[in-house]
Amino acid sequence: MASNFLPAGSTRSVLDFPPFPFRVAEAYGARLIDVDGHEYVDLLGDYTAGLLGHNPAPVADAVTKALARGWSLGAIADEEHLLAEELCNRFPSLQLMRFTNSGSEANLMAIGVARHHTGRSKVLVFDGAYHGGPLYFGKGGEALLAPFEYVRCPFNDLDAVTRALAEHLDIACILVEPMMGSGGCIPGRHDFLAGLRDVCRDTGVVLIFDEVMTSRMSIGGAQRRLAVRPDLTTLGKYLGGGFSFGAFGGRADIMSAFDPARGGTLTHGGTFNNNVATMTAGLAAVEMLTPEALDELFDLGESTRFRLAKVAEPFGLSVTGWGSLMNLHATAVDVRRPADLEDTDPRIGELLFLNLLERGFYIAPRGFIALSLAVSHSDVEAFAEAFDDSLGHMVEVDALAAIQHQR
Ligand SMILES: Cc1ncc(COP(=O)(O)O)c(C=O)c1O
Repeated sequence: MASNFLPAGSTRSVLDFPPFPFRVAEAYGARLIDVDGHEYVDLLGDYTAGLLGHNPAPVADAVTKALARGWSLGAIADEEHLLAEELCNRFPSLQLMRFTNSGSEANLMAIGVARHHTGRSKVLVFDGAYHGGPLYFGKGGEALLAPFEYVRCPFNDLDAVTRALAEHLDIACILVEPMMGSGGCIPGRHDFLAGLRDVCRDTGVVLIFDEVMTSRMSIGGAQRRLAVRPDLTTLGKYLGGGFSFGAFGGRADIMSAFDPARGGTLTHGGTFNNNVATMTAGLAAVEMLTPEALDELFDLGESTRFRLAKVAEPFGLSVTGWGSLMNLHATAVDVRRPADLEDTDPRIGELLFLNLLERGFYIAPRGFIALSLAVSHSDVEAFAEAFDDSLGHMVEVDALAAIQHQR
């Protein structure tokens, strides 16, 4: 039994859910086939890392060719430069950048270099935010937090941030997602994000956009769509073509700390930072991710969210999100921050998840959906019908009312 060797039988907590984790034998395009041979439409896209769909041929071909030339080189190869150049050309804030192995590590490094640059110590974060295993600001997990001193504010509340900055003069950086992803797909309001930009400029605080999830919003991420340029940006997930990936970068005067030729004194190690598989896959991935492909996916996401919201409303549910990322919620309240979701009953989402799985659709048990390039309009329409049918069934067997009544 897997749990004899792996706590909870897996090695990624988000994949542990009752009655047992979902085991997949095979995948292609937007389809997953489980170990019992059932086929599902994959609307989770590996929590955003699977943006390209499963087994994209350009990535598979590029990696196969690269492996034939050898890996674990302990040296530099072309793909590393080419991928960095491509990403710096795409993301407005990226003047200089570095690769890491994960989004978590990218955020830890961004915080570190912001502290170094400012000579200040504290990190301002938002309640309920998830920036990786060691940077989770929801309930639980305190013991796992990276040991920085944090100042926490409510998301989408610029006044609270302004007050915190006035009170704590030793804040080095603000770490924020343009849309809270794991926090429930809660978009940052434009005036909030633009306001953060202004207060950071006025106070010398480094503004870090965690675009590990939101970088898909356009060729230059959420920052390009919003026209708000952070000082540092962190990336991850799909930009490694489906392999372990992370990156951080931004203003040249901050990132030069890693370049002795420009007077930098910081070192940044990482045996696998430039591993051949990721660098090659990442380069093949960005070639597939044209501005048109990303804009089309964004539009498909917007129309999907509107379609699902129409189904959800009569049942007292709602859908939040932006572009191709969205979250179903068992509440009709206007969700502006994670605290607004505290009264929702997670059992409704879990039951809905199982109903959808039974009907051949895979999303996250928490209601999260991340569309991939392989998802079609007809997949979305079929999902909307299955969503309606699942909610209808839950009403029919009194599951929605029974759960709501018990509370
Ligand atoms: C916004 C955000 N930042 C950081 C991370 C951490 O990335 P990784 O899982 O690659 O460490 C995640 C992962 O879900 C994320 O959603």
